[in-house]
Amino acid sequence: MYKENRLSGRYRRDPRQESTIVALQELYDQLRSKARPRRPSGLTITDHVGPTKKRASWWQELLGGQAEKPKVPKGLYIYGGVGTGKTMLMDLFAEVAPPEFQLRRTTFHDFMLDVHSRLHQHEKMADPLTLVAQQLMQEHKVLCLDEFFVTDVADATMLNRLFSQMWDRSLVFISTSNRAPDALYENGLQRHLFLPFIARLKAETAVHDINSKVDYRRLAQHRRGLFYTTHDFQDPDAEVEAQFRALAEACHEPSGPAEVKVMMGRKLPVPQACGGICMLSFMDLCGKPVAAADYIALCERFHTLILKGVPVFKGANRQEGYRFLTLVDVLYEHNIRLFCSSEGLPFELFQHVVTRSEAREPKNAEGGHDDDIVDDNLGFSKERCISRLTEMQSFEYLIEHAKQHSPQLLLALEQASGKGGEQVPGRRN
Ligand SMILES: Nc1ncnc2c1ncn2[C@@H]1O[C@H](COP(=O)(O)OP(=O)(O)O)[C@@H](O)[C@H]1O
Ligand SMILES: [Mg+2]
Repeated sequence: MYKENRLSGRYRRDPRQESTIVALQELYDQLRSKARPRRPSGLTITDHVGPTKKRASWWQELLGGQAEKPKVPKGLYIYGGVGTGKTMLMDLFAEVAPPEFQLRRTTFHDFMLDVHSRLHQHEKMADPLTLVAQQLMQEHKVLCLDEFFVTDVADATMLNRLFSQMWDRSLVFISTSNRAPDALYENGLQRHLFLPFIARLKAETAVHDINSKVDYRRLAQHRRGLFYTTHDFQDPDAEVEAQFRALAEACHEPSGPAEVKVMMGRKLPVPQACGGICMLSFMDLCGKPVAAADYIALCERFHTLILKGVPVFKGANRQEGYRFLTLVDVLYEHNIRLFCSSEGLPFELFQHVVTRSEAREPKNAEGGHDDDIVDDNLGFSKERCISRLTEMQSFEYLIEHAKQHSPQLLLALEQASGKGGEQVPGRRN
């Protein structure tokens, strides 16, 4: 499934994820080979003639009457930074697992709620924890827990007892976490009580550092994230430059200056580009005699534009304002993804632009600023520009962009749109 999604372009290439998927595949194969009922060789005929006995599952077979702990494959503990695909990979495993794996997939948080409620139910018993461990092991044999994270001293002390019992009963444990085992519950109260759990966890699972540098969530980031302004960031230019570097790193292509052929031998220099992504300054694109033809050529070559330093439009940069309107129209029509650092949000960029009739309105008549641009062309077009810039930040627009130009962004976008938003890393407050 991973391969298929790579080939169809839904997944971006990521060598670290590939090694995680290899580890998951190995585990899957080990479980599968144990789960597949073996035919006794040479007894095919009797097999068919005799009454068909329903075979016990391999777990039952393994467990049946044996005093020793049956051998089961080691689980997998996947850890690494946010947005690196840990949940996605574990979910692939859970999705393809056949019923005989007896797999349960949940989050660590929900699992602990469940455990506590069971413990509460049996609190009158002599040893509720053993009972709960037994119960859980009757219900599943492979446990996939997303987001393993320990902050609570009560959980920290209980986990070792609970999991030891489950491991003794041949649990196969798969988990994702932001933390390496040794960093779990770091600096927690009475941490020494938690250390045996860490030791056992390391014995029962292969510990796998996904070690991917790419935060896929951030790559698809958008909401309130396309406009990096001084309201939110100390240095908006540095933010968009970081975004360029992140996108360039994930595209695994050389990055550097480029040139776009426009027409009749004219060329538009692009200071930084990588694959379908380019970064230019506002002055490169709107501060020089550049026109629609250049913008169109640029959009035919690149699908993502990082634009640095969009100013608030005032009397002094009216020409640049005209070009910016044209640029936004062309970007919008080509379904280009835009990141920009600017002095303000779309409506703020045009707050000094008024039409002649607006200029005559009483509120502007006396308080008109020297900075104001009274200009019907700009004044009437600014609404369209603001509306397009706003729409360019919407999920719908970005999903269209992804379908057309960057299918690897679809998953993260769809997930974020399902959740109704996302955190924007690095943003103040
Ligand atoms: N190789 C990839 N290509 C495209 N999208 C990916 C890739 N890996 C992960 N994603 C998407 O990025 C987002 C973050 O991945 P996720 O598994 O939730 O990260 P984690 O659990 O490590 O924080 C998800 O929407 C996921 O579908
Ligand atoms: Mg996750």
